Amino acid sequence: MAIHPPQQRIWWREPIEKMEVAWIAIAFVWGLVMFFTMIAWHFWGQQNLANEAYRVQPEAYVAKVEAMTEQYKVGEEGDTGIEVVHPPAGSDVYLLARLWQWWPVLELEKGKTYRLHLSSADWQHGFSLLPTNINIQVHPGYEMVVTVTPTETGEFSIVCNEYCGIGHHTMSGKIRVVESKGGK
Ligand code: CUA
Repeated sequence: MAIHPPQQRIWWREPIEKMEVAWIAIAFVWGLVMFFTMIAWHFWGQQNLANEAYRVQPEAYVAKVEAMTEQYKVGEEGDTGIEVVHPPAGSDVYLLARLWQWWPVLELEKGKTYRLHLSSADWQHGFSLLPTNINIQVHPGYEMVVTVTPTETGEFSIVCNEYCGIGHHTMSGKIRVVESKGGK
């Protein structure tokens, strides 16, 4: 029984069973397979996105999002009162995660490439863009940048994929993709 001390105190000098060696080898090799699959999937599966990350003070990031929102606001989203922002095609665009919303609603043009910045004002959130298989952790203090080129028009929902408290399940946002106004 486990509550008794082992009979052989120097247990690691015991001869090891062949079967045990085999399982350790299998587990080790499988660990390597998983590790390299993770890297390979970046290229073949187009799933693990390449991104950049910078240190940023949450207040400084909030200020950047506010500046962009003020400059390029084109309206408000339904009855939510959340600003809809149409930044210049191909520019740097900023999205803020905070308890409990994604702010603002970004309106992007199809076929244009943007640098999408993500950060949090408070806690850890998860940026999950539907229906694509994108999931990025969003931390306060870090600014993530991913390059995005929308390929179809429509409304795409953002949900929060890290549990962030009582309002977690209500934390959704939106990215709207419209036809390009300036042509290609
Ligand atoms: Cu934000 Cu869950």
